[in-house]
Amino acid sequence: MRLRDVEGRPIDRPEPTTYYHPQGGLADVIRATQQGRPAVRVGAVGLGTGSLAWYVRPSDQWTFFEIDPDVVDIARDPRRFRFLANAPPVAVTLGDARLTLQAVAPASLDLLVLDAFSSDAIPVHLLTVEALRLYAGKLAPGGRLALHISNRNLELASVVAANAAEAGLSAVIRRDRDVEPAEQRTASDVVALSAEPAALAGLGPGWKPLARDPSVRAWTDDYANVFAALWRRWAEGR
Ligand SMILES: C[S@@+](CC[C@H](N)C(=O)[O-])C[C@H]1O[C@@H](n2cnc3c(N)ncnc32)[C@H](O)[C@@H]1O
Repeated sequence: MRLRDVEGRPIDRPEPTTYYHPQGGLADVIRATQQGRPAVRVGAVGLGTGSLAWYVRPSDQWTFFEIDPDVVDIARDPRRFRFLANAPPVAVTLGDARLTLQAVAPASLDLLVLDAFSSDAIPVHLLTVEALRLYAGKLAPGGRLALHISNRNLELASVVAANAAEAGLSAVIRRDRDVEPAEQRTASDVVALSAEPAALAGLGPGWKPLARDPSVRAWTDDYANVFAALWRRWAEGR
């Protein structure tokens, strides 16, 4: 028999590292959603290695949305990664999340995590105003979106601020820079969004309102300016 913590997680499971570290911004939003609720319904776009499965409690219902079947095979292979193997059962929906999320029942999720924006070529159609409206429609009252927008080349926070305003969502950001190499945590930028501003209080230290920059236009299904996002990131480092 495995020893479990008070939330039912095996205590011998290694903690996730990098962006998924328990002291990071994504963990803050997951914890705030789980706090005081014995069971939550969570969607997570982007399976990757399945690191976020570490946060699944036995009573929760989690669904990962992943476009790449090879990623699913690799994450499920316990010889490579053990996050899924060690976690309570989760569902995986294969396909482009912008399409597969359409089949999710309205108002059925307490949290939807979007974690597909860290690579060099980002799926812009997952970030637009229309996409945010789709996600918001899947949230139960008081539900939250968490957008992981760490990106080496693109400054995305101001785009999310503009898109959130257009979609009628409040937004807060944690720019987690205070990381120690020894703790295997990576600096990260996470934005939490909700139709209900009260849902964004109490996420933890370091969260600040994400103000809109009027010079940055919202990205829609018909307009996105990746070059400007590249330029803003470059200008930050000058
Ligand atoms: C950074 S990884 C996610 C890491 C993951 N959250 C974890 O816990 O380890 C990004 C993932 O998003 C997936 N992805 C990219 N575009 C997608 C799309 N349109 N729909 C669904 N998944 C997508 C990629 O295939 C990749 O597996």
